[in-house]
Amino acid sequence: MLQDIPTTTLRESRACVLETERLTLRKPTLADVKAIARLANDRRIAENTRRLPHPYCQDDAIDFVRALAAGGRETVFLIEHSHKPIGMVGIDWRAETSAELGYWLGVDHWGQGFGTEAARAVIDYFFEEFDLDHLISGARVANPASRNILEKCGFQWSGVELHRFEALGSSTPVDCFRLSRSVWSSLKNWNQTTRRNT
Ligand SMILES: CC(C)(COP(=O)(O)OP(=O)(O)OC[C@H]1O[C@@H](n2cnc3c(N)ncnc32)[C@H](O)[C@@H]1OP(=O)(O)O)[C@@H](O)C(=O)NCCC(=O)NCCS
Repeated sequence: MLQDIPTTTLRESRACVLETERLTLRKPTLADVKAIARLANDRRIAENTRRLPHPYCQDDAIDFVRALAAGGRETVFLIEHSHKPIGMVGIDWRAETSAELGYWLGVDHWGQGFGTEAARAVIDYFFEEFDLDHLISGARVANPASRNILEKCGFQWSGVELHRFEALGSSTPVDCFRLSRSVWSSLKNWNQTTRRNT
């Protein structure tokens, strides 16, 4: 029975490539560590993501990719545009039944809708692949761009929590969001209305 398969095995066996209109999302490998370190080594990214250290060096990227390969608790996709890495998006399996969406993009790639496009791809992947009824995410209260992405994807605000951010070395308020399967499914099925003037 599906429930008898350990969750880690299930997650690993489903590693795949996701294609969107402009982006390719795939599993990062050791060949990507230079690019990952170059993109991630920016305080503006680290201060908005919980666990990214700053400065971020190649060894951090190597440890990260190795942990993923060893079957860590995250399902992560490298985001590529025109065959070049531009950022990362993934799901952190906080517990067997709790999954959290996270993402970051290299600063040069902000403001072009890539964050929303990548988030949508992973949200679809999550609800299509896993039998869970909701996905959570969060954005620092001082991070309107991320909040905007979550709201555009159908996430609903669920409260504010204090979370520790590694690069800040302290805790800061985070707006928490939740996307239920029913809202996702409703958005996916919201077909266009045909208007006839009478
Ligand atoms: C958050 C992040 C991924 C956004 O990526 P992006 O590709 O620029 O995002 P998009 O272009 O898809 O959408 C951002 C939305 O926020 C809006 N936005 C951007 N900056 C804003 C600001 N300062 N105030 C209000 N809205 C803002 C944009 O206009 C856009 O909305 P629109 O499509 O309605 O115009 C990127 O800024 C990033 O990597 N930040 C650092 C890491 C991070 O914050 N990760 C999220 C934590 S989980």
